[in-house]
Amino acid sequence: MSKNILVTGGAGYIGSHTYVELKEAGYTPVILDNFSNSSSGVLERLNQLFQQEPIFVEGDIRDPDLIERTLKEYQCESVIHFAGYKAVGESMAEPLKYYEVNVGGSERLLSAMRNANVKKLIFSSSATVYGDPQQLPIPEDHPLSTASVYGQTKLMVEEMLRALYASDPEWSICILRYFNPVGAHLSGLIGEDPSDIPNNLMPFISQTAVGRREKLSVFGNDYDTPDGTGVRDYIHVVDLAKGHVAALELMAKPQCTAVNLGTGNGISVLEMVRAFESASGQNVPYEITARRPGDIASCYADASKAEALIGWKATKTLEDMCVDTWRWQSQNPNGYKP
Ligand code: NAD
Ligand code: WQD
Repeated sequence: MSKNILVTGGAGYIGSHTYVELKEAGYTPVILDNFSNSSSGVLERLNQLFQQEPIFVEGDIRDPDLIERTLKEYQCESVIHFAGYKAVGESMAEPLKYYEVNVGGSERLLSAMRNANVKKLIFSSSATVYGDPQQLPIPEDHPLSTASVYGQTKLMVEEMLRALYASDPEWSICILRYFNPVGAHLSGLIGEDPSDIPNNLMPFISQTAVGRREKLSVFGNDYDTPDGTGVRDYIHVVDLAKGHVAALELMAKPQCTAVNLGTGNGISVLEMVRAFESASGQNVPYEITARRPGDIASCYADASKAEALIGWKATKTLEDMCVDTWRWQSQNPNGYKP
């Protein structure tokens, strides 16, 4: 079996961590990225980690000729598809951008894969496809619905993949539904580097702790949760990355299946603030503000299918998530920028 894997969006947050775990597992990842939400700085860091330049193709998933050429040139046997936009608020303001890249880009990638006869794919989906959950923890067969354009793009690609498999059962497709990825690689060399003001909780907390932001706004403390703040299933990005390696092992036989990648534990915003303060020794000032439109009270995974099907389970603790985020943030206060 070829060990070469095309990793679209491999210069991004989850893609770069998955690159590391693929290398550690003996695979040869080929990164394809257009740097629309990342920079070449990450490639230098990956080079530093392995003392070997990453194989990198600068380009866009909307360019099917480039994808087909790349798959053939590197004799890739499978694709891990991270590339796309992910900001929920922006997706409501600029819906066409999201449909074009996330849905249109995925369609072109799939067409190029079919033309190159590469029919193994791991796709980055999200717990956002469960909408406001009717059941907790959330199993994979929970009804699918979503409130945002971003979420719709994930659902549409999932549907495209199920239809593709139904039309051609030679495909092997694993849809991974991530809960809330946080943390950074133990080396402190790679981590999350939002290009703008962070939308997500963890980077906002870490930028506040390092002094880049004055204080955290806690979006509502009147939810039906133990302390009134939102509860989520935060998962260490290294655990998440290892989940992709585990899923690749499943690709040997044809199928189309969706798997949650989460810990199964719900953590509130205030619990996260306290855990981060204790792991970093820094104060994280915050104020309670209004709820953020579209937010839900609680969301955490039933993580049992991942263990049963791909033999994967998250192992890192909340403390690991905070300590590793803080190492990355304090060693790189401005991310990959000098
Ligand atoms: P990211 O923005 O850090 O990484 C995405 C990468 O894709 C970036 O490097 C970007 O430059 C690249 N990219 C974007 N459009 C491209 C295009 N047209 N052609 C080539 N490259 C392109 O995001 P991430 O957090 O690493 O997320 C990776 C995937 O996981 C995304 O599909 C995202 O929707 C999904 N996901 C993320 C989260 C999360 O909270 N981070 C949760 C669930 C799902
Ligand atoms: C977590 C909790 C907020 C910021 C989003 C996407 C989802 C997935 C992950 C891509 C909530 C609260 C946040 C802040 C706060 N992404 N919060 N102050 O909303 O669960 O999920 O990112 O696929 O699709 O919807 O993550 O980190 O934004 O919020 O109080 O400044 O933190 O209200 O309870 P969310 P998040």
